[in-house]
Amino acid sequence: MKTVLSGIRPTGNLHLGNYYGAMINFLKMQEENKCYFFIADWHSLTTHPNPQLLHANVRNILSEYLACGLDPEKATIYVQSDVPEIAELYLLLNMHAYLGELEKTVSFKEKARQNPENVNAGLLTYPVLMATDILIHNADYVPVGKDQEQHLEMTRNYAKRFNSKYGVEYFKEPAAYNYGKELIKIPGLDGSGKMGKSDGNCIYLIDEPKTIEKKVKKALTDNGPEAPNTPKPDYIENLFTILKVVSTPEVVAYYDNLWNTGETKWYGNLKKQLAEDIIKVTAPVQERIGHIKNDDAYLRKVTKEGAEKARESARKTLKEVREIMGFKSF
Ligand code: TYM
Repeated sequence: MKTVLSGIRPTGNLHLGNYYGAMINFLKMQEENKCYFFIADWHSLTTHPNPQLLHANVRNILSEYLACGLDPEKATIYVQSDVPEIAELYLLLNMHAYLGELEKTVSFKEKARQNPENVNAGLLTYPVLMATDILIHNADYVPVGKDQEQHLEMTRNYAKRFNSKYGVEYFKEPAAYNYGKELIKIPGLDGSGKMGKSDGNCIYLIDEPKTIEKKVKKALTDNGPEAPNTPKPDYIENLFTILKVVSTPEVVAYYDNLWNTGETKWYGNLKKQLAEDIIKVTAPVQERIGHIKNDDAYLRKVTKEGAEKARESARKTLKEVREIMGFKSF
């Protein structure tokens, strides 16, 4: 049985990008693997969240995970800060992470450019914390979207570096869950590259059908193809990318064909179909979310039991890592 680990920062609600990037096949995944799904609340500290919002966001993501069908009987669902062993392994791994490589990380450079007044040490070592999350359970697979590809590569480097430094075959080199295929990037509806919470271009799993219809209707389009078989501009390609994950291959082929024959005046139908198929994904989540979100006793039970299971696995790793590194008790 393989170990799979997936994480999400609690900075809002789950959106379609998270769903298709980090939760692909998660229902099947939790049946066939030892799964860890966690909420990366320490990771969100790099942007100094308001403490009240931090807790509310953890509640959001946790309830939405559960409403999506993650089953605490099958998968271990936990909050990162409930597992203090992660902090110790992070400290140990930090000693093997070098400034040069951390400064070159794309996400670091991007965030440092966007917020030059808050280039904190946690931001710099973010990839080490993410590697720790993965290595603390010695995960084989990590479902992630394209934006996390470099972090996963760095995790493999830290695993290799640790093994070679101490002459052991201890850490596995984790692969993306859909290894071998391109990682997915769900685009925004505003014609931009990526659907992201901070970009305000998301469809959230909790968006009501009317909101989804409205958002999809507003997506950027044009007057249609100028001639048959021309390449699609990015903003049209984006709509097709989303269509490909929510609709059937027949539907995609139908609209692809309309584009290729150079026909116009079908964007309205495409958007209607797209909204309809997105709603098919989100409707079951919404049905369940209401009562889960307000059920404190249930959320407490899930996080308590999740933390216990996660800590058991984390303690084992930490004990072995300490021994490998030469820590001994008197
Ligand atoms: P975060 O919170 O930004 O996103 C959570 C997951 O959703 C994926 N994702 C997307 N995938 C495709 N298209 C998109 N538009 C899109 N937007 C988000 C992300 O790739 C990610 O898989 N550093 C991580 C959280 C994390 C983590 C981990 C993930 C911390 N430790 C260990 C995996 C393993 C992050 O910021 O993801």
